[in-house]
Amino acid sequence: MTEMTPVTRAATDATPVKTPTLPDAQTVTEVKHWTDRLFSFRVTRPQSLRFRSGEFVMIGLLGDNGKPLLRAYSIASPAWDDELEFYSIKVQDGPLTSKLQHIQPGDQIILRPKPVGTLVHDALLPGKRIWFFATGTGFAPFASLLREPQTYEDYDEVIITHTCREVAELEYGRQLIEDLKSDEMMIELLGQENLDKIRYYPTTTREESPVMGRITDLMRSGRVYADLGVEPINPDTDRAMVCGNLAFNLEIKELLEGYGLEEGANSKPAQYVVEKAFLD
Ligand SMILES: Cc1cc2nc3c(=O)[nH]c(=O)nc-3n(C[C@H](O)[C@H](O)[C@H](O)COP(=O)(O)OP(=O)(O)OC[C@H]3O[C@@H](n4cnc5c(N)ncnc54)[C@H](O)[C@@H]3O)c2cc1C
Ligand SMILES: NC(=O)c1ccc[n+]([C@@H]2O[C@H](COP(=O)([O-])OP(=O)(O)OC[C@H]3O[C@@H](n4cnc5c(N)ncnc54)[C@H](OP(=O)(O)O)[C@@H]3O)[C@@H](O)[C@H]2O)c1
Repeated sequence: MTEMTPVTRAATDATPVKTPTLPDAQTVTEVKHWTDRLFSFRVTRPQSLRFRSGEFVMIGLLGDNGKPLLRAYSIASPAWDDELEFYSIKVQDGPLTSKLQHIQPGDQIILRPKPVGTLVHDALLPGKRIWFFATGTGFAPFASLLREPQTYEDYDEVIITHTCREVAELEYGRQLIEDLKSDEMMIELLGQENLDKIRYYPTTTREESPVMGRITDLMRSGRVYADLGVEPINPDTDRAMVCGNLAFNLEIKELLEGYGLEEGANSKPAQYVVEKAFLD
């Protein structure tokens, strides 16, 4: 039998001898798994990173070829937070999330510190009521904006709708809003009267829950307005931010334009803005 040298042993060991140093590395501080398809995590924030609540950045890990494997992610934490939070899908054969779903506190991820995006207050004209429309992980930018003081300075009413296939997929958002309304620090920061402006309207499409159906159908039928006891969307008073899958975004854009709202951008603020929650 040939004796293995230390070098041979290291080469066959699954643990690398030396952890590669990542470019733009940040350290994971917390990970929470919500379902077998959804998790959230927090990482350290680069001191120099400035962003507007609602924006997204590129994050990732080193790929097998040693090059950064990056994807767009909405920052789910507000601009004032010391750390950064993300809310993520787990795609079993997804190049990034098949690996990212296994991160643990103490691990490092790559974070390119160049925030961008259209789901920002600067892209909307003043109004009285803001609607946040989300499907799936499209809740992430609103997790940031719901914790952003400007949301309550700018609007008298804040309505957040979240449509998912199953009840468990609503839990991250449901718990965030519940914590927001009961956490002493958040009450002090945002004000009880401001937190009382939040109306939460969760719906499911493939599992029984108090409100079943796609939000777009519930808008068309008028049920969402009847349930909330509010007037239908009006371009004089209402502003909207949309984040979901492409088909949802297209459908709700048509509905919002039917109500007379126009799409805005950073360079040309208007009455509603849209961002994709993922590419297809
Ligand atoms: C502007 C923008 C912001 C984004 N913000 C987030 C975010 O905050 N959280 C997040 O989880 N993802 C977000 N994404 C999607 C993200 O960039 C990746 O697609 C996702 O992390 C999966 O990466 P992957 O390499 O594992 O698989 P990919 O090869 O990127 O995707 C594989 C397939 O998985 C599906 N998929 C990808 N992302 C999602 C998703 N979020 N929900 C449901 N199905 C999906 C799509 O069908 C896609 O074709 C965002 C995308 C864009 C364009
Ligand atoms: N969620 C799961 O349990 C699950 C499990 C395995 C794989 N996947 C795959 O993962 C991908 C993403 O799934 P996902 O559930 O996270 O996101 P999704 O397919 O974007 O669905 C999220 C929610 O948006 C609704 N929706 C879709 N199109 C809409 C439209 N045009 N207008 C209004 N609402 C609309 C869906 O309703 P409908 O249900 O009516 O479409 C669902 O409630 C899909 O490719 C899916 O095949 C999902």
